[in-house]
Amino acid sequence: MSRRRVAALISGRGSNMAALIAAAKEPAYPAEIALVLSDKPDAGGLGFAAAEGIPTAIADRKTLGSKPAFEAAIQRHLAAARIDLVCLAGFMRLLSAEFVASWHDRLINIHPSLLPAFPGIDTHARALAAGVRLHGCTVHFVRAATDDGPIIIQAAIPVLPHDTPDSLAERLLPVEHQVYPRALEWVASGRARVVDERVVVDGIEGSTGVLISPTAAS
Ligand code: GRF
Repeated sequence: MSRRRVAALISGRGSNMAALIAAAKEPAYPAEIALVLSDKPDAGGLGFAAAEGIPTAIADRKTLGSKPAFEAAIQRHLAAARIDLVCLAGFMRLLSAEFVASWHDRLINIHPSLLPAFPGIDTHARALAAGVRLHGCTVHFVRAATDDGPIIIQAAIPVLPHDTPDSLAERLLPVEHQVYPRALEWVASGRARVVDERVVVDGIEGSTGVLISPTAAS
């Protein structure tokens, strides 16, 4: 089967995007990163992608005026690059229900919490404030509601007594980089399917959750 053409949508430094690019260097990986698109002209990840020889595009929300014009610009870039799958990787814009529906089960996101806990922003601070003992990240198919949709993979890390939002974020980020490429691999190969709004991964009978051991966390 030919490799699926993937667009990574970013707004910032793009470390998750970089993890996907690294994974896709493996010839057997079922996806290639064919486009990196940012809503911000100064997103740090754009330079990294360009240095890797990956086509980049900008859909600048500020100059495009309206949300429909912004989304139409994104759709034009995705169509021009013949994109099959879209990965949101630190993309900080909410997409309309129409946009999301047009990529149904072909649009995935990574979110820095164990969804459905803490959708939205400031997840690390909110996890600490809630006193949860486990925090983590989720890769999921995107639905119209914010940070909602069938869960593909989750990874949990322990919350330690002296954690701050920054220390939690720092410990979680490499875990995100570990699970996002795995989730994309499953989706791109067709192994991950949505059945009744839950994800089934062919060949995996057990959990697609990852527990990072407490000893690995300190
Ligand atoms: C990550 O924590 C991701 O989970 C969230 O935004 C952050 C983006 O980081 N959606 P990066 O741009 O991938 O480095």
